[in-house]
Amino acid sequence: MDDLLHVRSLVNSREGTVKPAIYTDPDIYRLELERIFARSWLFLAHESMIPKAGDFFTTYMGEDAVLVVRQKDGSVEAYLNQCRHRGMRVCHADGGNTRAFTCPYHGWSYGLDGALNSVPLEKEAYRDQLDKSKWGLTRVTRIATYKGLIFGNWDATAPDLEDYLGDMKWYLDGFLDRRAGGTEVLGGVHKWTIDCNWKFAAEQFCSDQYHAPYTHASAIQVLQPTAANKADGSPLGEGQTAKPVWADALGGVQFSGNGHGSAFFFTGKPDANVWVGGQVSAYFREHYPEAVARLGEVRAKRLAGHNTMFPTLSWLNGTQTLRVWHPRGPDKIEVWAFCIGDKEMPDDVKDALIKSHARSFGPAGFLEQDDSENWVEVQKVLKGHMARRTDFCMQMGRGFEERRSDGIPGLTNYTFAETAARGFYQHWADMMSAENWGEIEALAKVSEKELADV
Ligand code: FES
Ligand code: FE
Repeated sequence: MDDLLHVRSLVNSREGTVKPAIYTDPDIYRLELERIFARSWLFLAHESMIPKAGDFFTTYMGEDAVLVVRQKDGSVEAYLNQCRHRGMRVCHADGGNTRAFTCPYHGWSYGLDGALNSVPLEKEAYRDQLDKSKWGLTRVTRIATYKGLIFGNWDATAPDLEDYLGDMKWYLDGFLDRRAGGTEVLGGVHKWTIDCNWKFAAEQFCSDQYHAPYTHASAIQVLQPTAANKADGSPLGEGQTAKPVWADALGGVQFSGNGHGSAFFFTGKPDANVWVGGQVSAYFREHYPEAVARLGEVRAKRLAGHNTMFPTLSWLNGTQTLRVWHPRGPDKIEVWAFCIGDKEMPDDVKDALIKSHARSFGPAGFLEQDDSENWVEVQKVLKGHMARRTDFCMQMGRGFEERRSDGIPGLTNYTFAETAARGFYQHWADMMSAENWGEIEALAKVSEKELADV
């Protein structure tokens, strides 16, 4: 892709239009791996997954396989999971504990610190001429953590993690910081593929509550009458129908810069979005006063909805799913979903939360499947020549953005508005067309003014 100005013109957040080539073009996808995924802060693992020296977890940054490793001094490092001899994956396990990573191809062996420690037949084959100090694993340039989440970034000039998060910290805290002791990953990692571009999933979690009344209509009709999701916890009486959450619980969307955003309802309930499991609901209600003390009432009652930290980390409050949309080409993603619970939760509540998480947003979850079916169908439609030349409308709520005075941060709008989608795609376009982070930040200042000033 020579013409970067062309990439920038594919998104017009001021007019509220997106050109579908951004979901299908292989050249654009290759540029995304370089300009988005090699320059953004990407989620690697939760601290609780690698507590001891030698613990490791294998994951991806974009399409790059990486190893996340707890060091002997307690710090965390990450490396390309790629042998320096012929590029073989040095570690095939999903995670575990080890003293060394030994390549299965010819046996080069690396330490926890990434150093190349031993080479088979070093004396005979290399005549003792190989300088092993030059052939260690490729280290991820920067590692930083935020409230238990470990992130990596290949770009030394990117802003620090907390600056990159900006106002998004306020929303992330509502998910991670409800109780003293912090959170942990409960159970394993669910992994599955969806045949769609990564931006469909990331943008929906960033901005789109508009889909909920239609896409999830049948699931919500079935679920709404359950005790777990009612304001007073009591079951509906015979013949009673529950009101959908959006009938009297409108909230907002917010764009907090750098492509991050949320779309949520004010439900007034500490156990909103707990779709299955009275036990989990009871736990959230019991610990509501602690959440109020830590976060204030608005977040303690849960902003029921979903969020995306650009580019590919999303979470859903209440359901407690945290997921990464790993890109696998322009038309495929691999979803990795983690169930996040409080460390202090009793074991039986942890078990109940794992079930609630899997039944609603696991790979076979009743809400998960509603969402992914849409993305897969849109991707199929975009196989058509004319379909790929037809602009999408992203104009909902354009010109009605506001900065609230009630302490809810970000550039906000009515619940059903595409403010955060416009912010997400504008940041995407800024990153795709800028040569470095200095340029990205300069463009972001212009973009944010335009987004708020139509
Ligand atoms: Fe790893 Fe040869 S590719 S030792
Ligand atoms: Fe949905």
